[in-house]
Amino acid sequence: MQNTSQVVARNLNLFKPSSLLIVGMPDDDLLSQLDYTQAFTWDYSVYSTLNQAGYSNLTWGSELESDKQYKQVLMFMPKSKPELDLLFAMVSSKMEMGAELFLVGAKKEGINSVAKKLTSVGGHPEKLDMARHCQLWSVIKTVESKPFRLDDWLEEYQYSSGDDTLTAISIPGVFSHGRLDDATALLLDNLGKIPSGRVLDFGCGCGVLGAMIAKRNPEAMVEMVDINALSLYCAERTLSRNNLKGKVYPSNGLRDVTGRFNGVFTNPPFHSGVKTNYSITETFIRTLPDHMTKNAPLRLVANSFLKYAPLIDAALERYDVVTENNKFRVYKAFR
Ligand SMILES: C[S@@+](CC[C@H](N)C(=O)[O-])C[C@H]1O[C@@H](n2cnc3c(N)ncnc32)[C@H](O)[C@@H]1O
Repeated sequence: MQNTSQVVARNLNLFKPSSLLIVGMPDDDLLSQLDYTQAFTWDYSVYSTLNQAGYSNLTWGSELESDKQYKQVLMFMPKSKPELDLLFAMVSSKMEMGAELFLVGAKKEGINSVAKKLTSVGGHPEKLDMARHCQLWSVIKTVESKPFRLDDWLEEYQYSSGDDTLTAISIPGVFSHGRLDDATALLLDNLGKIPSGRVLDFGCGCGVLGAMIAKRNPEAMVEMVDINALSLYCAERTLSRNNLKGKVYPSNGLRDVTGRFNGVFTNPPFHSGVKTNYSITETFIRTLPDHMTKNAPLRLVANSFLKYAPLIDAALERYDVVTENNKFRVYKAFR
């Protein structure tokens, strides 16, 4: 069990049955110890793992679409801080006045400073427990909350590559929020020829790559996948804002992708939240050949220090570096 879950597990007496909402839980077996009403996550891999383990009343999505007002909410500190305000606003709107919000998180991920934000929900946050380098806080809701609308949090910005300018729609916590990422910009300027037919944007974030691919070749049937429901929510809006078409759906790595693609384009993840995690992209590269048609191109951008080159070289043919600057490298290879 993760450290945050262990801290919750030693405080089970705090939680009352019948009206408990859990938000952002890890994919361990803490849920088996809690009598919860609903458990919500934006993370498709957590959802899939818990679902397969047989837990019920799980929701994965961009928003918790229930009119229910809960008496207690247990919130795990989100992995990325920018989405905190959004999460507090969403959670608070699901709590009745006088309801209790519990927040648990790791010290090294900044729970101390994050707990101060609990004052947006109620007056006097209290630290209830400290163990396993984590803290458990609580606050009683005394601040009236506004109805929560995800669309109120969307922002848009323009981005360009060559002669093409598009509008990106993003939200706090989603990659490339507010501005185009520098690595993605390098890849956009080095996409090469976009094949027609099925083309994959893996780890699409708010959809900047997939939208540019669809714009450059209207014959490309772009599919955009990510594990984060907020990313997919934004990617759909980025496509429609630019009058472009594509299929947007959740996939943990390539697990939920079927069939083969005529091209794959990606700025792949090397983080799970704040923790470095190379295994997602390593597995992605190893399993790529099963998802590409013969001679289909891969274009992948990554930090130069990441050791993906030997993996790409082993998995595919004609591996090469297309371009590089002092931080990033764009690789190409073919099935
Ligand atoms: C470096 S960002 C790139 C986002 C976007 N393509 C861009 O360039 O702005 C990597 C993306 O991969 C997603 N991701 C992380 N783990 C994943 C997984 N296991 N399967 C699919 N996508 C994942 C993240 O949510 C994030 O949106």
